[in-house]
Amino acid sequence: MRVVVADPVHYASVKRVLVDAFGGDDEASLVDELRAAGDAAVELVALDDQGRVAGHVMFSNLRIECDGGAEGAVALAPLAVRLDCRNQGAGGLLVTHGLDACRQLGKVAAVVLGDPGYYGRFGFSGDATQGFSCVFEGPYLQALELAPGALQRGQGRLIYARAFDRFSDVSP
Ligand SMILES: CC(C)(COP(=O)(O)OP(=O)(O)OC[C@H]1O[C@@H](n2cnc3c(N)ncnc32)[C@H](O)[C@@H]1OP(=O)(O)O)[C@@H](O)C(=O)NCCC(=O)NCCS
Repeated sequence: MRVVVADPVHYASVKRVLVDAFGGDDEASLVDELRAAGDAAVELVALDDQGRVAGHVMFSNLRIECDGGAEGAVALAPLAVRLDCRNQGAGGLLVTHGLDACRQLGKVAAVVLGDPGYYGRFGFSGDATQGFSCVFEGPYLQALELAPGALQRGQGRLIYARAFDRFSDVSP
């Protein structure tokens, strides 16, 4: 299994992986909208031994608004691995490579909405979101600092890219 930057040549396969993994096309549409809006910060695919898309992850631009100003962070979503390729480390590779790439872009933190049982292994925690308001608040909201101290500045807001409005209660 190897991980590479997603390219338009992968997009049709990515869509199939997402629709199969989530049982609908909401996540595939989300990815399309993030790309179209220029909000895709890091997008990676895992390729199997035959070079076929085995998994995909998107990290999109997310703004952290604090008293001191705004910082560039990322939202990890969606993450999906082909059913026949699961439990072979593809998901972990996509997350860790993606976080490294986001760090290199200067992103100060990553936020995810997902199962703490899975994302905790990468260092994400609900505690790291303390003091931040977000339309997706709840036990599944977790964060990870990519720059030391980035999430320790007190009160603030986590603002997802517009494409996520479809998943929140505040969508028009
Ligand atoms: C979640 C997902 C991306 C993991 O991909 P993967 O390639 O199988 O992951 P890895 O091989 O890196 O890790 C597998 C480990 O994660 C665990 N795991 C997988 N999903 C989990 C979950 N929801 N909660 C807790 N642990 C989970 C597995 O039990 C396995 O544990 P082990 O290492 O102790 O054996 C994949 O199961 C998937 O595509 N699921 C459907 C889509 C989805 O739910 N995406 C996440 C949305 S937040």
